[in-house]
Amino acid sequence: MKMVIGNWKMNGNIDLLHSIVPTLLHEGLGSAVALCLPYPYLSAAHSLLKAARSQIKLGAQNVSEHPFGGYTGEISAAMLKEFGCRLVLVGHPERRSLFGETREVTAGKLHAALGAGLYPVYCVGETLAQREGGLARQAMVDELALLAGVPTDRYAVAYEPSWAIGGGVTATSADINDMHLFIKDVLGPGTRVLYGGSVKSHNAGQVLGLDSVDGVLVGNAALSASEFLSICHTANRCAHGEPIELLKKPRAGLIDTDGPSHHLPGMPSIDSPFWREF
Ligand code: 13P
Repeated sequence: MKMVIGNWKMNGNIDLLHSIVPTLLHEGLGSAVALCLPYPYLSAAHSLLKAARSQIKLGAQNVSEHPFGGYTGEISAAMLKEFGCRLVLVGHPERRSLFGETREVTAGKLHAALGAGLYPVYCVGETLAQREGGLARQAMVDELALLAGVPTDRYAVAYEPSWAIGGGVTATSADINDMHLFIKDVLGPGTRVLYGGSVKSHNAGQVLGLDSVDGVLVGNAALSASEFLSICHTANRCAHGEPIELLKKPRAGLIDTDGPSHHLPGMPSIDSPFWREF
């Protein structure tokens, strides 16, 4: 099963919700599909999905690291659960770069989500400067250290290089494959790793066709029912091993492929082939 998670970011409106969700319901999409919506739309989306007994999962794009209290403007993990969320994005590159989310804050959010029984989709990815400086892998190791000791079926990692987000450059198959294998090497083979960064209907087959890719995190293309549906259908076909378009020739030298294996000390080597129902 390959996951498709739509991240609306701060886009859309209630009309879009009422046009996209029924279209997705009509197509009978299942539990491999999730929507991470702006907070105000969660309740309405939850009602629509529940009324249709849909297996599509609902998620949030952020969560507070605190359980409750005087944190004006924040939303707790327990509140997200009350409104039907099963998953939450943690550490999205836009949270880190635009809102100054530090690794300490991200760690708190990760643990708040896990503690409340939410399924965190933990976003990691190097900046362009880190990549060009040959520091991409080290950046990844530092971020992945937060997951030390957490069973691999309790979360997913989303590899989202910030330079590939927002319709600019798309990572090549070789970029994605190398980094996904590296993340699995660090955290254990059962780790689910999704890719995010300019995934559209026209390149989804190229990304989802890679064995190392367990799903995609989709931004802009999730705002169009036809684009999103096409990506979901591609994911379904790829999960069933149907042939996909040939991979493009990889760009050389973008990823620092040399270097030692980075297994973290004390990490569990849980080989969980199954995607826990989140
Ligand atoms: P785009 O698909 O718009 O590049 O966004 C990717 C992303 O940030 C998903 O979380």
